[in-house]
Amino acid sequence: MEHDFWHQRWAEGRIGFHQEDVNPFLKKHWAELKVASDETVFVPLCGKSRDMLWLREQGHPVVGVELSDAACEAFFAENDVEPERKSFGGYVAREVDGIRVLCGDFFALNSELIRESRAVFDRAALVALPPGMRRDYAVYLQQLLPTGSKVLLVTLEFEGESGPPFSVSSEEVEQLYGERFSIRCLERFECEDPRDAGRSEVVWLLEDKAAE
Ligand SMILES: C[S@@+](CC[C@H](N)C(=O)[O-])C[C@H]1O[C@@H](n2cnc3c(N)ncnc32)[C@H](O)[C@@H]1O
Repeated sequence: MEHDFWHQRWAEGRIGFHQEDVNPFLKKHWAELKVASDETVFVPLCGKSRDMLWLREQGHPVVGVELSDAACEAFFAENDVEPERKSFGGYVAREVDGIRVLCGDFFALNSELIRESRAVFDRAALVALPPGMRRDYAVYLQQLLPTGSKVLLVTLEFEGESGPPFSVSSEEVEQLYGERFSIRCLERFECEDPRDAGRSEVVWLLEDKAAE
């Protein structure tokens, strides 16, 4: 997916992926990661997701990365907070009370910029990318993450190739992450809305096999 594709989606307000409420799978399953509340959580391709607020409410410092400046701006404006804005490692960083949103390309990050986070929440990031980019994304994410990391990942499964969002099979999750992480399916939710017939949301817990 080219950067312009996303910039255009944000400019035109075609952001059907955005959820007004905190993601229910995050609330339901986050505790299963057993991440200490003072550990930083990384939210890749974060959009203006309210999930970052919820994670902060649990005590975690949060770092998100998002390509669209409009999305970064909207996250703070819509939550009635005025962030401090500064240039940081080649990104425009907006920060307030433990939430830092880096505006720029995920593929230019380094682990220092994400405060060496060992916990990740991926909702609508992996599935936003076409197959080749998913491989690159998974490789890059794993390079960023230190030993002992954990990921709560939400994927979608449905018939068909078009996207975003894209369908990501269990086999693909295994191919992308199975070498490094032990992978547990926490929930498979069959969408009930007839417009989403045949679509499932799948929640995965990835835990680094290597001891810390
Ligand atoms: C499907 S949206 C999901 C947003 C968010 N995770 C959510 O749950 O609402 C994917 C987001 O990734 C952003 N994005 C796409 N490619 C990116 C990249 N290379 N680096 C940073 N952000 C990117 C897009 O602008 C878009 O906001």
